[in-house]
Amino acid sequence: MDLQLSEEHLMIRDAARDFAQKEIAPVAAHYDETGEFPYETIRKMGELGFMGIEVPEEYGGAGLDTIAYVLAMEEIAKADVAHSTIMSVNNSLFCYGIMRFGTEEQKQKYVVPVASGQKIGAYSLTEPQSGSDAAGMRTRATLSDDGKFYILNGLKSWVTSGPVADYIVVFMMTEPEKKHRGITAFIVETDKPGFSRGKVEPKLGIRASATCEIMFDNYQCPVENVLGKPGEGFKIAMAVLDAGRIGVAAQALGVAEAAYEASLQWVREREAFGKKIGQFQMIQQKIADMKVRIEASRLLIYQAALAKERAQRTGERFTLEASMAKLFASETAMFCTHAAVQIHGGMGYSKELPVERYFRDAKITEIYEGTSEIQRMVIARLETGLR
Ligand code: CAA
Repeated sequence: MDLQLSEEHLMIRDAARDFAQKEIAPVAAHYDETGEFPYETIRKMGELGFMGIEVPEEYGGAGLDTIAYVLAMEEIAKADVAHSTIMSVNNSLFCYGIMRFGTEEQKQKYVVPVASGQKIGAYSLTEPQSGSDAAGMRTRATLSDDGKFYILNGLKSWVTSGPVADYIVVFMMTEPEKKHRGITAFIVETDKPGFSRGKVEPKLGIRASATCEIMFDNYQCPVENVLGKPGEGFKIAMAVLDAGRIGVAAQALGVAEAAYEASLQWVREREAFGKKIGQFQMIQQKIADMKVRIEASRLLIYQAALAKERAQRTGERFTLEASMAKLFASETAMFCTHAAVQIHGGMGYSKELPVERYFRDAKITEIYEGTSEIQRMVIARLETGLR
């Protein structure tokens, strides 16, 4: 067993780090302040292959593995979590789902432009009254009389990249009496009649990652755009979230490290009572706890990434590994960014430094793609076999 990264992985990490520090870090505060969508840097990320890292090259992607994906995600998030969120949705929630469950036509038509960064993809499961209880959705899709298309109706919410997405994988109830077994996944084109965008969410953090409601009013979705089979939507949604949660864990690791590195520099330079503050035991405790949690997160993330790679050969699920990585890394992100603000004192609360942004951005990793409470429920159910 060898926990060293390969030469190729080190090169990918370094390329992502170089790009993120040169191109994203300098503009992150601007986009946080304005809430504008960072089209320019996202376009460049597409050109570098970051928008479809694991997608094979023949489908527009970079053709790399999950370890490469988490390494790149960590580096992008270290510079700005909002950019990593846009990247994560394109990669995991959109491309992964279609590559795994889609037809050849769907891969050609939708994955190629999104993985190459020319178009933006999104994923829509949540509704105003159903977040954690994903199967409790109220949106409805009914098959047309001629059987050629589904008619989609209703309101979905909290769609990451919703305001800018060209294509969205949307989950709707097709046979309500079957509950979660009556949910179907659809690939929706956002420039077609019957689709509209609603309220854009004003958010605490990841402000450059645009989020909105989307509305369907008799939207006609051709049957060719059903992803998987009718009634398989819930399992597709959950399987896609397993992949997504590994990406969120890597985002959380990135922002935790950014907070940690800022803190290290600060405690070495800042003086109080005639000493560097890093010489005080209460600061040392924070530094030690941050470091250990960061390294433990990294191991859980690599374990989950390897489980996902293995799953391609064995078909087994990697739900447990993904949930453990997301739970621990997101709580580490909150722990580290909270500690970093405290270590920096007044300057940690000031917009002159990025530390307060790290703190605001980190919080979402404990919420989206399944809250920490949901991850604990998933882990405990799988471990005990009880429900
Ligand atoms: N992979 C494949 N199948 C799965 C699965 C997985 N990971 N998890 C569950 N399933 C299957 C089960 O095997 C079961 O199959 P059968 O019908 O054959 O029995 C079926 O799905 C139902 O499973 P459960 O009974 O466990 O379902 P549940 O209703 O109790 O819910 C849950 C389980 C874990 C709470 C789930 O609803 C969940 O994860 N909720 C959180 C949803 C979430 O993460 N939302 C965030 C949305 S995305 C977002 O944040 C916005 C964004 O844009 C980023």
